[in-house]
Amino acid sequence: MRVGVLTGGGDCPGLNAVIRAVVRKGVQEYGYEFVGFRDGWRGPLEGDTIPLDVQAVRGILPRGGTILGSSRTNPIKIEGGVERIKDNLAGLGVDALIAIGGEDTLGVARQLHDRGVKVVGVPKTIDNDLNATDYTFGFDTAVNIAMEAIDRLHTTAESHHRALICEVMGRHAGWIALHAGMASGANVILIPERPFDIEKVCGYVESRFKTKYAPIIVVAEGAHPADGQMDVQSQELDAFGHVRLGGIGERLAAEIEKRTGKEARTTVLGHIQRGGTPTAFDRVLATRFGLHAIDAVHDGDWGKMVGLKGTDIVRADLSAATDELKTVPAERYSESEVFFG
Ligand code: F6P
Repeated sequence: MRVGVLTGGGDCPGLNAVIRAVVRKGVQEYGYEFVGFRDGWRGPLEGDTIPLDVQAVRGILPRGGTILGSSRTNPIKIEGGVERIKDNLAGLGVDALIAIGGEDTLGVARQLHDRGVKVVGVPKTIDNDLNATDYTFGFDTAVNIAMEAIDRLHTTAESHHRALICEVMGRHAGWIALHAGMASGANVILIPERPFDIEKVCGYVESRFKTKYAPIIVVAEGAHPADGQMDVQSQELDAFGHVRLGGIGERLAAEIEKRTGKEARTTVLGHIQRGGTPTAFDRVLATRFGLHAIDAVHDGDWGKMVGLKGTDIVRADLSAATDELKTVPAERYSESEVFFG
């Protein structure tokens, strides 16, 4: 059996740990050969490969990014894209694919599976917004990076009696904001799932100043005011039709200054949340996903994604994982509201 491996979409810490586990177990226990496809779906689309054997995956467990490269190429949008992928797989003697990605990459995997490609998915994203898994790897690392940054913002905010706003990633899900905000004692957390009332936010800021403590506002990039349009930096769309988010933190700072008369400044964490070495939790989760993904290949269980349920690794249909986003439930957000203001 010859297995192709690819990593697609926004990268995140833990991708290399999955690749390593897939290859190590695949070679050792099943005697498989591997082919690495470069830059997500661009690799199989253009037949662009790199050798992937045990030697190639030595030492990559703690390394951030992906040794295979990534891209947001969408072969479904390219005329004849699916046929080109099928032809290239046949030409390279690749029998099956392991696709490591988020909703977009796994959405393509699902469509390819429907058209006869043997594929197994592995859920990655710092956003933690994939269904059929309790957690995606990369999320824990992003939350820890954001938490540490917010801890640092607390001390400087207090020295200068300022409101500091920290804008975090997460696209249309507020998981990073919720977890990083809870872990670091934010004054208020704003998430896309709950449009915010700017009056209330300013009220929280003022009450925090009254107790001689500087407010920290954690805002998800996709958060937006109750009565307004989603705040976006540009209307640029990627190949999957997603708008590039960002800018809500700056807008919020201007509004808070105007309404409260207090100085408010913004830090945008951006891609720092996706870079560098994975946490122990993400290394273990990514490794277990890799081990179970190659088992799914061995079992011929195509069209499935591995996922975490409690402490067990399970398999689910790719459709169950990608049909709709896993967003923050109202009751989870309510837990954090106890600490607002
Ligand atoms: O999906 C992961 C993510 O980091 C989102 O949180 C963010 O909106 C997006 O990717 C940024 O994408 P890009 O890499 O294109 O800047």
